Amino acid sequence: MKLTHILEARQFKDAILREIFSLADEMKLFDKTNLTEKERKRCHKLKLSSQPRKKIMACLFYEPSTRTRFSFESAMKTLGGEVISTESAGMFSSAAKGESLADTVRVVSGYADVIVLRHNKEGSAKEAARYSRVPIINAGDGPGEHPTQALLDLYTINDELKRIDDLKIAFVGDLKYGRTVHSLVYLLANRKNVEFYFIAPQPVKLPEEIKNYLLEKNIKFTEIENEEGLEIVLRNCDVLYVTRIQKERFENEKEYEKCHGVYIIDSRHVCLMKKNSIIMHPLPRVDEISIAVDDDPRAVYFRQAANGKYIRMALLKMILDPENI
Ligand code: NCD
Repeated sequence: MKLTHILEARQFKDAILREIFSLADEMKLFDKTNLTEKERKRCHKLKLSSQPRKKIMACLFYEPSTRTRFSFESAMKTLGGEVISTESAGMFSSAAKGESLADTVRVVSGYADVIVLRHNKEGSAKEAARYSRVPIINAGDGPGEHPTQALLDLYTINDELKRIDDLKIAFVGDLKYGRTVHSLVYLLANRKNVEFYFIAPQPVKLPEEIKNYLLEKNIKFTEIENEEGLEIVLRNCDVLYVTRIQKERFENEKEYEKCHGVYIIDSRHVCLMKKNSIIMHPLPRVDEISIAVDDDPRAVYFRQAANGKYIRMALLKMILDPENI
C-alpha cells in the first residue's frame, strides 16, 4: 500500500494499520541476537535499498524532542540509511535569519528523501507538504497532531492487550494542547466499539472540534471533572492514557498552575484498575504519574517508548522502499 506524507492520524484506516503493525513486528528482528539464516535474509531485505546511493532522512525540529527524534534517527540508521538533522531549527537553521518554512522545506527536500518535521505551529506539516518534493512526516505540529506517536500507541495497545477494537480508554491530563491525545483519539475513532473518557482540568479540556468529530461519528464519550468520576472510570477502563500539562503552550504561569498537579496518578488509583488493563504515557513525565507506579506490570510507558523505533522503521521502509517489502 502506498504511503507518502504522514500528516494526520485520520489517514490511517484498517488495512494500512495492519500492514504497518505487521512490518513493525518484523523490525524487532534487528534487535534480536542469534538470528537464523532465514531471519538474516529477511533483515537484509527489510533494509532500505541503497541504490544508487543510501537514502537520506532530514530531521527538521523546531521544538525540543528526545524520543521522537532519537527513535526516528535510530530507525533510519538501523535500516542502513543516512541522517541529517537540526534539533533547534528555530535557532540554528535559516529560520533565525527570517526564512519561511515554505522556503526551508523547498530547499531541504533537495537534500533528503524524506523530511521529519516538528514545529510549534499547528498546521505546519500540511503547509510543508505543499512545498516539499519529498514525503513529510509530521512529528508534532504545535498543539495539533502527532500521528506517528498515535501509531506507536495503538501498536502498544495491540501488543499488550492483543486487540485494537472493543476498548474503553480514559485520557487524563492536558487534552487541549496534548497533540498525542488528539492523534490517538482520531486514530481510535476509526476502530470498532471504542468508548472514550476524558478527564481534564477545566482550562485544558478536549477541543470542541474533536468532540464534534466524535459526535458526528456517533462515538460514545464522557467528560469527567472530579475525583469520584475518575475512580469509577479507573475501575472500568482497559487503557489509562496520562499526559503532561503542556507548560510551554500556556500564555502565563498562573494559567498553567491552575492545571498542574490537579490529577496525579498514584498507587492508590492503580489499585482500583482491572488486572488486565494498562497505563500509558507518551513521555516525558513531569509528576502526573508517581514513580511508585513504574514497577506495576500494568505500567507500559517505557515499553511504549521502545516501540517507537519499530513503528518508525516500518513507516520509513513503506515510504522509501515499498517495492522491497
Ligand atoms: C509528546 C510530544 O512531543 O507531543 N512527546 C513525545 O513525542 N513522545 C508529549 C509531550 O511533550 O508531552
